[in-house]
Amino acid sequence: MTFAYGPDAAPVLDHLDLTVEPGEHLLVVGPSGAGKSTLLALLAGTAHPRHGQIHLAGHTARHARTLGTAARVLVPQEPYIFEAPLHDNLTYLAPNAPAPRITEAIDTFTLAPLAADPARPLRPDHLSPSERRRIALARAWLTPTPLLLLDEPTAHLDAGARAATELAFASHPATVITVSHHFPAPEPGQRVLLLDGATPYLGTHASLLRESALYGELAAGLGEPSAAGSRSTAST
Ligand SMILES: Nc1ncnc2c1ncn2[C@@H]1O[C@H](COP(=O)(O)OP(=O)(O)OP(=O)(O)O)[C@@H](O)[C@H]1O
Ligand SMILES: [Mg+2]
Repeated sequence: MTFAYGPDAAPVLDHLDLTVEPGEHLLVVGPSGAGKSTLLALLAGTAHPRHGQIHLAGHTARHARTLGTAARVLVPQEPYIFEAPLHDNLTYLAPNAPAPRITEAIDTFTLAPLAADPARPLRPDHLSPSERRRIALARAWLTPTPLLLLDEPTAHLDAGARAATELAFASHPATVITVSHHFPAPEPGQRVLLLDGATPYLGTHASLLRESALYGELAAGLGEPSAAGSRSTAST
């Protein structure tokens, strides 16, 4: 699959060939501008490849988009919160979520202070970036979707909320594709896709540490080199 933002633009993703198994938790890492959010937009069916195809459980991504949350749920980098009570914000993708599960989501993502007055609408412009993200994550976590696409889920979160988020999604039964450049140490054997310019590398944490200098830098939290500046630092 190849994708570019315009007919004359250089591809952001070039000949990416990737199969993700049902229930797999794939981590996607790479420097800013490498195409991580673009990949999630393609998987969500909001952008379309120039060449090649994307299939989600037998549907094209374009068709999956029309199926909505029954096919996939995307938590974008800038999550959307609407002016309505917390409960409505949490359940609009999961209207049948049982009450105990909603309570669990509120606990897991530390949203109780926003539920103090259950009828009071949230004021999106008064929420902190962390609150916005935790609401969007709880909303996604509540859905029975088979595919979760999480774009920088732990950005803006403190260490406690970050750990709770990682734990909550680690045990989620869906296929989970998580984009992050503040990534946790992946689970043993977990596959990691490193996007670096137009050349993707697929491996495990251990193999990428061996094979990519850029991955080593990202894993060590040594800054966030730009995609253009990073290509020469990858050793494979
Ligand atoms: N709507 C758009 N139109 C044109 N170019 C775009 C658009 N969105 C992204 N790009 C470009 O495509 C490339 C990949 O962007 P993308 O947002 O996917 O990167 P990213 O890896 O998610 O970066 P970050 O870590 O900063 O979120 C960048 O060069 C970006 O400038
Ligand atoms: Mg992005």
